[in-house]
Amino acid sequence: KPQVLISPSMMCVDPLNFESALRRVEALGVDMLHIDIMDGHFVPNAPMGLGIVEALRPKTDLPIDVHLMVEDNDFFVELLAPMRVDQISVHVESCIHLDRTLARIREIGAQAGVAINPATPLSAIQYVLERIDYVLVMTVNPGYAGQKMTPASIRKIADCRKLLDDQGYSQIPIQVDGNVSFENIPAMVRAGGVNLVAGTSSIFHRDASWSENVITMKHAI
Ligand code: DX5
Ligand code: ZN
Repeated sequence: KPQVLISPSMMCVDPLNFESALRRVEALGVDMLHIDIMDGHFVPNAPMGLGIVEALRPKTDLPIDVHLMVEDNDFFVELLAPMRVDQISVHVESCIHLDRTLARIREIGAQAGVAINPATPLSAIQYVLERIDYVLVMTVNPGYAGQKMTPASIRKIADCRKLLDDQGYSQIPIQVDGNVSFENIPAMVRAGGVNLVAGTSSIFHRDASWSENVITMKHAI
């Protein structure tokens, strides 16, 4: 079975204790830090700004995975350019010149990801496969932690895997974001999810410690 990466969603930690949370997260042996950047327009929330990315970069060796949920993608990509993040995903729904923006993300030295909302048809990513390093399949409507998985999510992940394979892009991995819970993980992985964004449904679930939650998560994988 494929190696599955764990990407803690840092919007789920206490912002007043961000650095100590970072150290605790690093100690869990996770694979990358998922940073949700929202603008209050594309999604009705804005918990973190790019300042957190700038502050974070010199303080961690973990890969930084930025998920942009914004209207003006190019504006944010240019601000991110000097910050040396490892990967950036942009939403097909807000990115008018998607091909150009994805090319620009690679140009600034980051891996380029295309993110897709639950209701958006997969055909929206069909002609940018040459430009991307991963697909982010949203399994909730973006904006908030702690939501329920949308009903077509597992089918969508499987269809996305099939589309990538059929088009000759079997090397492009699928990241899954939203309600990646202990219960949902087995089906998400079976459908083709290999990078799991871990939020309040798993690592940051309040019923157990973060390290216990990682173990439970790994069992579910
Ligand atoms: C938005 C976020 C959320 C969230 C994931 O893109 O990445 O989906 O933090 O965590 P859950 O859904 O488990 O609270
Ligand atoms: Zn996200």
